Amino acid sequence: LQQKRRLVQERIREFPDFPTPGVLFRDITPILKDPVAFAAAIDLLEAHVKASHPQVEYIAGLDSRGFLFGPALAQRLGVGFVLIRKKGKLPGPTVSVAYSLEYGQAELEVQNDAVSPGQNVLLIDDLLATGGTMQAACELMKKLGANILECVVLIELKSLKGQEAIKPNSLYSLLQYD
Ligand code: PRP
Ligand code: HPA
Repeated sequence: LQQKRRLVQERIREFPDFPTPGVLFRDITPILKDPVAFAAAIDLLEAHVKASHPQVEYIAGLDSRGFLFGPALAQRLGVGFVLIRKKGKLPGPTVSVAYSLEYGQAELEVQNDAVSPGQNVLLIDDLLATGGTMQAACELMKKLGANILECVVLIELKSLKGQEAIKPNSLYSLLQYD
């Protein structure tokens, strides 16, 4: 498992001052470009969820980079994938929640019938920074009555204290940075 974690870690790049000055941007695109690293990432997430949350019924992915990892994980687990999108992208009745980002303001939305009350949902994104996005996604799932098992990310930026922001929901991260 440590070997797989290393494979993933080797495929994360840093870009200073993107998208705005002062932000050190962690870029996950090299993971996707390398099928071995991509498989290692999904292997690690699959092992964690099977061990800790075998009752999971849906993986809910966050727009947009949660869409890169969520469906692959959901297929491995044999469960469905639902989309938590930026506002204005989903047809039909939706619920939405506004939130503030490390570098901006936005609104997330989900279709009313994405999950049913009481269903066991696991949220996934590539990265947790301030936790504002994940917190909003949790609020959306709560509005639908979902039971949130955990929030899962590949990368946690510890110094931004996102884990505090998403409380009382819990966090699992593959890799942590200060
Ligand atoms: C990034 C990242 C997370 C979020 C983390 O997405 O993929 O979703 O920011 O930041 P937070 O913890 O401070 O809320 P971004 O909003 O840049 O959108 P994108 O996935 O569409 O690029
Ligand atoms: N990297 C990638 N995505 C992000 C970051 C980051 O440092 N902060 C907020 N979203």
